[in-house]
Amino acid sequence: MSCSRARRLSTRKVAFDLLLSYHIKGLEISPRAKGETALNSQPKLNLLLSRQEIQATIDRLASELNRDYHGQNPILIGVLKGSFMFMANLIQLLNFPIEVEFVRLSSYGGGKESSGKIKVVQGLQAPIKGRDIVVIEDIVDTGLTISFLLDYLCRKKPASLRLCALTDKPSRRQVPVTIDYLGFTVPDKFIVGYGLDWDEKFRNLPDIYYVELED
Ligand code: IMP
Repeated sequence: MSCSRARRLSTRKVAFDLLLSYHIKGLEISPRAKGETALNSQPKLNLLLSRQEIQATIDRLASELNRDYHGQNPILIGVLKGSFMFMANLIQLLNFPIEVEFVRLSSYGGGKESSGKIKVVQGLQAPIKGRDIVVIEDIVDTGLTISFLLDYLCRKKPASLRLCALTDKPSRRQVPVTIDYLGFTVPDKFIVGYGLDWDEKFRNLPDIYYVELED
């Protein structure tokens, strides 16, 4: 993956606002009232990806990484919080030496969707100059979040930089993103489970669901 590609990023607040934009679209209510409506509503969860499908896909991704990084010692960088479960299960299947780091990002500027105005809340603890890097992400949606992160990492001059994403929602893309290792392409729906949250809920679910709001 080239470091010259334009990239950006966002967070949990964006994810929640994004959910509102999916499910309360069309109602004439204020942004504050929208939040109250969503929080008071009972989300209905519809199964999208079973734990067996997820595990089979993680097995495949691990095989691809084992093939491509044989004899190397990359750093895997997980994007908090959503990637924690994916990262934990993926790395157990890798048969080459790795190091693990995490970054955490925050968006600012508000709005219903990813603003692209991102800041790094928890940066890298380890130097990555000259190292092979694999970023582990839960979902690529507009692409603003991962683009920002990849730009941030590129400035630290790694030897190589690749992206491994569990899910991709290409229908909502705003900036181009190359996903080197992709688990699933998902429809234009808000998804939760397996690390992905709705207002910090549902991260612990072992399957992935899409959300419907019920009154
Ligand atoms: P972006 O739109 O690609 O910048 O994604 C921003 C962030 O929003 C992602 O890193 C996720 O944390 C969150 N996000 C986007 N879509 C979903 C979703 O369907 N479920 C849960 N979180 C999401």
